[in-house]
Amino acid sequence: MVISKDDIEGLAETKEQKEWWGVKSANMTRGSLEVFAGPMYAGKTTLLLQRVLWLDHQQKKILVIKPSKDNRYNEDTIVTHNQLSYPCISFSEFSEIEDNYNIMPYNYNTVCLDEVQFMDCKDTLSSVEMWLRNGVNVIAAGLDQDSRGIPFETTSQLLGLADKSEKIKAICTVCGKEATKTYRVKASGDRIQVGSMGMYEPRCLEHWEPK
Ligand code: TMP
Ligand code: MG
Repeated sequence: MVISKDDIEGLAETKEQKEWWGVKSANMTRGSLEVFAGPMYAGKTTLLLQRVLWLDHQQKKILVIKPSKDNRYNEDTIVTHNQLSYPCISFSEFSEIEDNYNIMPYNYNTVCLDEVQFMDCKDTLSSVEMWLRNGVNVIAAGLDQDSRGIPFETTSQLLGLADKSEKIKAICTVCGKEATKTYRVKASGDRIQVGSMGMYEPRCLEHWEPK
């Protein structure tokens, strides 16, 4: 059986859904993906918050999501190192988002993802691809590399898929030059170790070593 445009429109319940189906069948545009990546203290979350603020000013609906692994401040806000914050939802499995939020253009203009390096690569890619295909924009921020200089898979894949990306730099704590790396103050075996100043510092290539 072939489902026609009229059948689909018949399923729409709200005014927003009806309008969206109208737009989709006439001229559906794919959402755009923008990615901010770099070392710690470069201002990735700050840039994400700037975008959130702009969208807020335009009265666009936004969903801000972070992995619950990032428990540095609290579960329901994203927070920058200089304490700017915005409400968000935390999750551990993507299914929690898919089950509880209907991420469609009539509900959300943009989904913002922070700390993508902690998110499962396959699940992130499939959800992001679906949201983009449905016409929802996505903005993602995350560490490009771990403290050993190994690229984080999820950030790398999102950078590859991005329509627009920015690698941002921090300031080296030793010499004040541009920092592209994150230095781990005390060596530890685990790749993932949530923390901030005292545990990690931004460093330039000269003053960084993999740990
Ligand atoms: P930030 O980029 O928002 O400052 O936060 C990065 C988080 O990632 C922070 O909790 C520390 C953590 N992290 C790791 O788990 N492993 C690493 O190798 C590095 C560099 C950071
Ligand atoms: Mg951050």
